[in-house]
Amino acid sequence: MQNISFTKYKTSQEIIKAANSRPDAPKLFVETYGCQMNVADSELIMSVMIDAGFAVCDRPEDADVLFINTCAVRDNAEQRIRNRLQALAHLKKKKSGMLFGLLGCMAERIKEQLLEQEQIVDIIAGPDSYRTLPALVAKAKEGESAVNVLLSREETYADISPVRKDTNGVSAFVSITRGCDNMCAFCVVPFTRGRERSRSPQTILDEIRQILAEGYKEVTLLGQNVDKYNWNNEEVKFAQLLKMVAELDPQLRVRFATSYPQDFTDEVLQIMANHPNICKYIHLPVQAGSTRMLETMRRGYTREWYLNRIEAIRKFVPDCAISTDIIAGHPTETEQDHFETLSLMQSVGYDYAYMFKYSERPGTYAARNLPDEVSEEDKSRRLDEIIALQSKLSHESNKKDVGKTFEILIEGESKKSKHKLFGRNSQNKVVVFERKDTKIGEYAHVKITGCTSATLMGELIEPN
Ligand code: SAH
Ligand code: F3S
Repeated sequence: MQNISFTKYKTSQEIIKAANSRPDAPKLFVETYGCQMNVADSELIMSVMIDAGFAVCDRPEDADVLFINTCAVRDNAEQRIRNRLQALAHLKKKKSGMLFGLLGCMAERIKEQLLEQEQIVDIIAGPDSYRTLPALVAKAKEGESAVNVLLSREETYADISPVRKDTNGVSAFVSITRGCDNMCAFCVVPFTRGRERSRSPQTILDEIRQILAEGYKEVTLLGQNVDKYNWNNEEVKFAQLLKMVAELDPQLRVRFATSYPQDFTDEVLQIMANHPNICKYIHLPVQAGSTRMLETMRRGYTREWYLNRIEAIRKFVPDCAISTDIIAGHPTETEQDHFETLSLMQSVGYDYAYMFKYSERPGTYAARNLPDEVSEEDKSRRLDEIIALQSKLSHESNKKDVGKTFEILIEGESKKSKHKLFGRNSQNKVVVFERKDTKIGEYAHVKITGCTSATLMGELIEPN
């Protein structure tokens, strides 16, 4: 097998081309579910496998090895993946020797039992075991059981250059921390992704220099709780890292996710305020509106603390958009708690929200100690009320933008018309406009002329 020298090639596309030109290289297909961290992990997986001699393909039916990078955060995510596996099962019948791997959080949660539950699966690999994937594939080929679900306190894959295959070439994800130490009552992530650890600033900056050289215009720094970023006993904390990244290139847009209310500092806000290229957008999950519920969820902050953080955002970065995550029907939630969630949403006036029905996850504090006893009916009704309120708030937020002009980074063609492009403004809102002679990857100035609750519509104006 011909080895690929990664340093010889400038871009992911060149690496993929070189990998795919090797005669007889077995083909890999990777399908990704869940959060942005999984998207970034799939790019590491791609890199590890290409390094081990694999080619990559665009369709599952062409693959010799098919990996599904999974999510376990709610039961319906796992159900979707099980259904997908069933839908792919016929491929194995057609192609003898084809191998299926389940990777990521669901693999970590269910471990080797998955081999029994889903008989078509050959390989099980948790989020800290991706370096061993080629060895696991080799084992599976020999008919041996191929499972690695060891979690690590150190692994950050800092030295692996991700191969960005399914990308728009404009916007890239870079992980800065892995794992989570928060142990929110409802959440399975600390069990599937292990302990919190930070990656060295040097390797983060090097990776961003590399994507800049490849022509990317935007980076999103990723971690379950980016505010806990901590290198070498607080020598570099998140605020300093953010500053270093922003100062690499004023043309590079910088985003980050996810922020945690307890740990989110004014220092970060000051750095945002002082660097125009740090996008004015914060994702600050609240989960619930009453202090009683937040305590039950073991979130470590009160309603008042959270609202104080919102005030700080408004003070330091007045034009900042704010989004959140909300769970409806967490164990012990009463109508009064639910009402406080709605009232908090109203007083913050979120620009956007990700809203979920509580789903019990085996092994979590809530599953062990708090019976899942809010009725299905109440959960659904509360979620519907939350969604209806957010749709109203998003629409109100968008209406305020009509008449304003924003700098947009153009990301792609509108789904509805090839004469239109879409991009995002600093506040992370999607803006659709007539393309004229603009191109994907460029910045453009767009005046907003209309909106729905989900999208802003506008027209190009000449920059002055
Ligand atoms: N800190 C992480 C959170 C990961 S989970 C981050 O970077 O986004 C994403 C969201 O899923 C959580 O904020 C929460 O709102 C939701 N969630 C987590 N566990 C859940 C559960 N058991 N039921 C319903 N929603 C859940
Ligand atoms: Fe989950 Fe709470 Fe961490 S939601 S990922 S345990 S911050």
